[in-house]
This record gives sequence, C-alpha cells and structure tokens, in this order.
Amino acid sequence: MGTDVIIACDFHGAAETLAFLDQFTGRKPFVKVGMELFYAEGPEIVRRLRSRGHRIFLDLKLHDIPNTVRKAMRVLRDLDVDLVNLHAAGTRAMMEAALEGLTRPDGTRPLLIAVTQLTSTDQEALREELWIDRPMADTVMHYALNARRAGLDGVVCSPLEAAKVHEACGASFLTVTPGIRFADGDRGDQKGVMTPADAKQAGSDYIVVGRPVTAAEDPVAAYERCVRDFCG
Ligand code: C5P
Repeated sequence: MGTDVIIACDFHGAAETLAFLDQFTGRKPFVKVGMELFYAEGPEIVRRLRSRGHRIFLDLKLHDIPNTVRKAMRVLRDLDVDLVNLHAAGTRAMMEAALEGLTRPDGTRPLLIAVTQLTSTDQEALREELWIDRPMADTVMHYALNARRAGLDGVVCSPLEAAKVHEACGASFLTVTPGIRFADGDRGDQKGVMTPADAKQAGSDYIVVGRPVTAAEDPVAAYERCVRDFCG
C-alpha cells in the first residue's frame, strides 16, 4: 500500500461528506469513515465512496466474541474496503477470527490493524478502572505484539510511538497515526501531536488527518500540504 495521507471524514452525513470531497477535483484522497458517518448512513456511504474511486479506512473498532467478530468482518470484507480495525483488547483469538472473516475465497483481504489503548485512556484510568497495573507504554507495546502474533498488519498509534512499534514488531508492521497538526495550526483536543513531516521522520506509515484538512479555509491546499510534507 505504501505511505499515504488519510483524511478523517468525520461528518454526520453523506451529503456533507460528498460535498467536501467534491472540492478535490482530479484527486481521490484515501478517506477514513468512522462510526458517526457509518451509523448515520450505513454501508451505502462506503459503496458510494468506493464507486467514486476512493480508498477507504473503515474505522469501526470491532470488539466482541470471536464468532461475532468473524461474521461481522465477513460483511465488511464484501464492502471492499482497504483497511479495517478492531480493539486488540478483544484477545488474540478474536483477532485471528477477524482475519478469517476478512479473508476472501481467493485469499485476498483488506488490511487489518488494531487499536491498542485509546489515547483517551490515561494511566490513572488504566489502573483504577481497568485494573491494569503496568505502565501505559508497556501495555501499548504488549497489545501491538499480540496483534502481530495474531497475524494483523499493524496498529493505530500515536506518531510518538511509531518507532518503538516498528522496533518491537518489525519494519513492515504498519503504524497508522492520528494526532497530526501543522506547526502553525490549532492543536484542538489532541495531545502528543506531530507535524506531517515529523511523523514521516518518526516512521509513520500512514497519517490520519481530520480537522487540519476538514476545517481548513482551503481543504485541498491543506491536504496537498500534508501530502507534500509526508509523502514528498
Ligand atoms: O481532527 P483530527 O485530526 O484530530 O482527527 C483525528 C481522527 O483520528 C479522528 O477521526 C479521531 O477519531 C481519530 N483518532 C484519534 N486518536 C486515536 C484514534 C483515532 O484522533 N487514538
């Protein structure tokens, strides 16, 4: 797949999403469809984006018993997306079942990556609520290794963790990193942010960029700037 910039299409509906993407004349950005858009519009939004030629990261973060995840992944497989994800906390058995469900009869499948710990979970919540006494960084790396052992293709992680993940899981294990901001931009609610150029230096394989592009005065120019800085 190579490195690329993925635009997080965190819009509420199809009309808004398609109008946003209509601005990219002659360009077909790789897009991320998350829960809000998918639950609002259903699989049809994925089919429409596909028919327009976009590559799609379907960010639904599955987490359930292995049998349920296997069957759900079979449905997503037939949507012909490029990248899907799940929670590594679902265990290796769940991740292996997910891979089975995703694999088409001809052996091909979308890439599958894992969420390790959500960046919204801090060390205190990990200890007090989840009863995990290990340091957050160790937990993240352990979950990444579990994902690799299960046969997954990579993880969603902070660009700050990309080098460590590659070191532990191998250079070809993908790091897909949100938390991207331009040096002169607004950080919003993201902590531990990096610029596209720094994320490239840090070893990110894909950057996921939402508001720096979607809320920009000129989204196409902002996207082009990301591509230039990250892929150039
Ligand atoms: O607008 P912004 O660039 O912050 O959007 C980042 C995207 O990546 C959002 O869709 C957000 O849900 C997602 N994400 C994240 N941090 C994670 C996992 C996913 O920001 N740890």
